[in-house]
Amino acid sequence: MLILGIETSCDETSASVIEDGRRVLSNVIATSLKDHEAFGGVFPEVAARRQLEFILPVIDQALNEAHVKKEDIDAIAVTKGPGLLTSLLVGTSAARMLASVLHTPLIGVHHILGHLSSVWLEEEEEIPFPNLSVSVSGGHSELWLRENHTMGTIIGKTRDDAAGEAFDKGATLLGLSYPGGPALARLAEGGNPHFAEFPRPLVKEETCDMSFSGLKTSLKYYLRDRGGIEALSEIEKKDVAASYQDAICRHLVSRIDRAVSLHSEIREIHLVGGVSANQRLQILLSSFGEKSGLRIRMPRRMSYCTDNAAMIGAAGYFLFQELGEKAYAPFQTLASVPLVS
Ligand code: KG4
Ligand code: ZN
Repeated sequence: MLILGIETSCDETSASVIEDGRRVLSNVIATSLKDHEAFGGVFPEVAARRQLEFILPVIDQALNEAHVKKEDIDAIAVTKGPGLLTSLLVGTSAARMLASVLHTPLIGVHHILGHLSSVWLEEEEEIPFPNLSVSVSGGHSELWLRENHTMGTIIGKTRDDAAGEAFDKGATLLGLSYPGGPALARLAEGGNPHFAEFPRPLVKEETCDMSFSGLKTSLKYYLRDRGGIEALSEIEKKDVAASYQDAICRHLVSRIDRAVSLHSEIREIHLVGGVSANQRLQILLSSFGEKSGLRIRMPRRMSYCTDNAAMIGAAGYFLFQELGEKAYAPFQTLASVPLVS
C-alpha cells in the first residue's frame, strides 16, 4: 500500500511516499528555520507563508523521488494537529484537495502518533508490544505504554516545559541562537558533564512525570551568580553546557528507569521526537538498556527524529490497518466529517 504523508505542523514542510508503513521511497523536508532566527523562536505568520510557498513543490518532489505517479497513491495521511493552526491548515488543505481529486482515503494523524511510529521506518523485523515509547520534542515530553501501533496510555508527562524547550531555553541563556537544542549539544561536545551541579527534579516523588523548568531556572541563577555568561571562559561555557545537558538527559533516563520498574510487561524502549537526536541522551539510554536487558530503539536516521512526513505516512498506514474504515474520512464526506483521532 502506497501512502503519501504530509506534515506541516510547525516550520517544516514535508512530504513522503511510504510503502506498507515501513519502506521509505522518499522523504522531502523543506524548512523555514533560518527565517525564525531573528525572533529566537518560530514566528507563526512567517512559518505559514513559507508553508504555502513550499507545499506543492515538496509534494511534487516527494512523488518524483519515489518514482510514483500521484494516481498510484492508495491513501493520503496528513498531520491534523497539534501544531501551529495556520501551518496545519496549509498541509490539511493540500491533503484534502489531493484526496478529493484522486478519490483516495484521507487519514488524519495526530503529530505525536507520527513520532511514535518513526521507529518503524526502514525496520524489517516485527517490533514487540507492549513497549515504552519516550516521546521528547519541543512541544511535548511523554512516556507512553504502547499496546499496539495505534493504542497506548500516557504513564508520565512533563508538568511544565518540554525537554526540547529545556534545551532551547538553556541555549538562549548560554547566548546561543535558535534552534537551541542542536546548538547546545554542539557547545557541550568535549565539555565536562560533572562541572556544575544541577538539581534532580521530582526525585522524591513516586512518579514517572517530568519537570524541566527548575533546571532552566537553576541555570539562570548559576550564570547570574558567576557574573553572567560573559564572565565564563570558552572552556567553562562548554563545561556548563555539558553539565546542563547531562542534567536533562539523566532526568529523562531516571523517569524511564521508574517506568520500567513499575511496568514489568515492557519489552522494549523507544526514544522518539526531536530530542532523540541528542547523542548524550542516546548514550545514557543505551547504557540503561544494557543494564536492564531491554532493547533500545531509536529512529534509524536523524531526519526521522525531527518533524518529517515519513513518520506521518507510517502512522497513517498502521491506523488504516488497525482501524480500517474508522481511520479515514472518505473524500465524498470530507466537508462534514472531522478527521478521526
Ligand atoms: O520533534 P521536533 O522536530 O518538533 C516538535 O514536534 O517540537 O523537535 C524539536 C525540538 C527542539 O526543541 C530542538 O531544540 C530539539 O528538538 N532538538 C534537540 C536536538 N535536535 C533537536 N535537542 C537536543 N539535542 C539535539 N541534538
Ligand atoms: Zn514533532
